Amino acid sequence: MDMVDSIRSTPVLPGLAPAAVVRGVSYAYGDGANRKVVLENVELVLDPGKFVVLTGHSGAGKTTLLTLIGAIRSLQNGYIDVLGVRLTNDSERQAREVRRRIGFIFQDHNLFGAISVFRTLWLTTELADMPLSRMEAMEKALGILKKLNMSEHLHAFPGELSTGQKQRIAVARALMNDPKLILGDEPTASLDHAASMLVVDLIKEHVLRNSASALIVTHDERIFDFADHIIRLEDGQMVLHK
Ligand SMILES: Nc1ncnc2c1ncn2[C@@H]1O[C@H](COP(=O)(O)OP(=O)(O)O)[C@@H](O)[C@H]1O
Ligand SMILES: [Mg+2]
Repeated sequence: MDMVDSIRSTPVLPGLAPAAVVRGVSYAYGDGANRKVVLENVELVLDPGKFVVLTGHSGAGKTTLLTLIGAIRSLQNGYIDVLGVRLTNDSERQAREVRRRIGFIFQDHNLFGAISVFRTLWLTTELADMPLSRMEAMEKALGILKKLNMSEHLHAFPGELSTGQKQRIAVARALMNDPKLILGDEPTASLDHAASMLVVDLIKEHVLRNSASALIVTHDERIFDFADHIIRLEDGQMVLHK
């Protein structure tokens, strides 16, 4: 049984297509003597309702893979189907579609200093073509922020927030468009234990309630307990651990 089959051998919700299918994806940085292969023929299926942890040493290619699945980086080889949209090495229109529909939690938050927390969250729904009124957006934002202990910061600007608070806003933003796929790049890296657990609980709850999938890059072993599967990137390839 190869890894893709074994990852699928646990029961999935009937009739629902995978959130993401990665087939034959290789990736290299640089050219000539500087060429460095980071991913080699990676295969992965992310089924609905699953919380999957992606781990591996620093420089293993975790961020590279996550940004390929999230359509933030263009593919070189192979293809990735994300929520039914096929990404190849030539799919800018498809990439825009994927970016609107998924939730991506960047390692460095990626918040704009001049845009308030509420505007950031509302903007996410606008970009996803969700027609929410100001009141509706506020209600939705507060519902998410409350679960992250961040509701009092609804009208704050990023400069007024600590690193850990910014990270929680980045998590909230990734959930505003009701994504069927959440990609998180070390989303708890600057959080203490209590805040990390709030983030993991929130993502896990979203996954179960919406039959969504989450692929979360982390080194945090406390999060491993919450994972349906743990995958390790080693020498450019996937190794299934659980
Ligand atoms: N823009 C880039 N140009 C050249 N090499 C890069 C670039 N981004 C990442 N790399 C290299 O690719 C490898 C994988 O990086 P990355 O995907 O960020 O790993 P991880 O997230 O697992 O730490 C590392 O050796 C890194 O130095
Ligand atoms: Mg990384």
